Amino acid sequence: MKDSDSILTVTLGDRSYPIHIGRNETTGLTHTLERIRDQKRSCAVITDSTVELVQSAFINDLFHDIPRIAIPAGESSKNLSQLEQVLEFLAEHRLNRQSLIFAVGGGVVGDLAGFAAACYMRGIDFIQVPTTLLAMVDSSVGGKTGVNLASGKNLVGAFLQPQAVFIDTLRLDTLDKKEFAAGMAEIIKAGLLADRELFEKLEQKPVTSSNDPNLVQIIRRACSIKAQIVSADERESTASGGRALLNLGHTFGHAIENVTGYQGVLHGEGVAIGTVMAADLSAMMGLISPGDSQRIAAVFAANGLPTRLPTAIPAAKLLDAMGRDKKNRDGLLRFVVLSSIGEAITHDNVPVDLVMKALSNGGAT
Ligand SMILES: NC(=O)c1ccc[n+]([C@@H]2O[C@H](COP(=O)([O-])OP(=O)(O)OC[C@H]3O[C@@H](n4cnc5c(N)ncnc54)[C@H](O)[C@@H]3O)[C@@H](O)[C@H]2O)c1
Repeated sequence: MKDSDSILTVTLGDRSYPIHIGRNETTGLTHTLERIRDQKRSCAVITDSTVELVQSAFINDLFHDIPRIAIPAGESSKNLSQLEQVLEFLAEHRLNRQSLIFAVGGGVVGDLAGFAAACYMRGIDFIQVPTTLLAMVDSSVGGKTGVNLASGKNLVGAFLQPQAVFIDTLRLDTLDKKEFAAGMAEIIKAGLLADRELFEKLEQKPVTSSNDPNLVQIIRRACSIKAQIVSADERESTASGGRALLNLGHTFGHAIENVTGYQGVLHGEGVAIGTVMAADLSAMMGLISPGDSQRIAAVFAANGLPTRLPTAIPAAKLLDAMGRDKKNRDGLLRFVVLSSIGEAITHDNVPVDLVMKALSNGGAT
């Protein structure tokens, strides 16, 4: 498929798929639904309780005749027991190997529905219809699916690429500001690791609302960066660089989410604080200038995001949560760092004392 203004392709051989992007644009999805109905393929919609309510007109217009299950909204639904209920729902509605699942929601729905598609009858097709900004630019693209265990996030999962992704920014009009900003964190991150121009655009004109005229183009750019990285290293198996670069700020960010019990700090907010810490670390390592590190913090702040820990958390606790044992304090750690604004690298020799310093500069005690 040839890329156009409104369609990007994730190039993965016979698993390639289109990402449709627009505002108030459902033509691609409508055609897909018509084709599926003509083929008499049985389908199911998986959504969550909030999306079902706030997007009821959209869901009822497009998916009125398709069996639907709504999981309770929120991260706590991304678990094995919800997965089982969803799988039972698919079986009750007699979905078969030719069937297809629509994931209509944020990253929680996308990850759970994608994993259900990967497991049900050893794998059926699914389509992503993301309704949060984070899901549009990150979780709906790339084929990582899964659920959490009590022992940790995303510990069970599978790679399954969707058949297509349909992004319509109109869906974001019902999203609250904090959730919108959380998605912006991943877009700024994409600019930082691969597209200086995108970063500078968000520096000059921050985006804080779904009707911003630049939003479609910015989403397109972020998806294109993710698509290119995924195409080159689908399973994150490259020794250095590759898909791991998407984790810029995530080692810090996951630790923050973990220590705050996945409450109070949204994933995107953790990514914002974590990326500011990673930029500070990069500056301390002499890879970027202190001025660039300050610029990075300013861009997150201008786009509605926190840049420091909301409460004082012991740095040692965060280091532990990164899976880095305190005993290794004199050792060297692997991190994604910035070599400039617009370029990231994986670095295997990051001194622990600098990591501790970045944590305390970010508000850790
Ligand atoms: N698979 C991947 O590659 C990948 C990448 C990044 C994040 N993730 C996962 O994504 C999840 C986070 O995704 P998220 O931030 O979308 O969270 P989410 O799915 O929990 O959505 C956030 C909240 O917004 C609500 N919501 C969704 N769409 C809405 C809309 N249009 N209007 C109003 N409210 C709406 C949801 O009900 C929920 O309460 C995490 O579980 C994370 O692990 C996965």
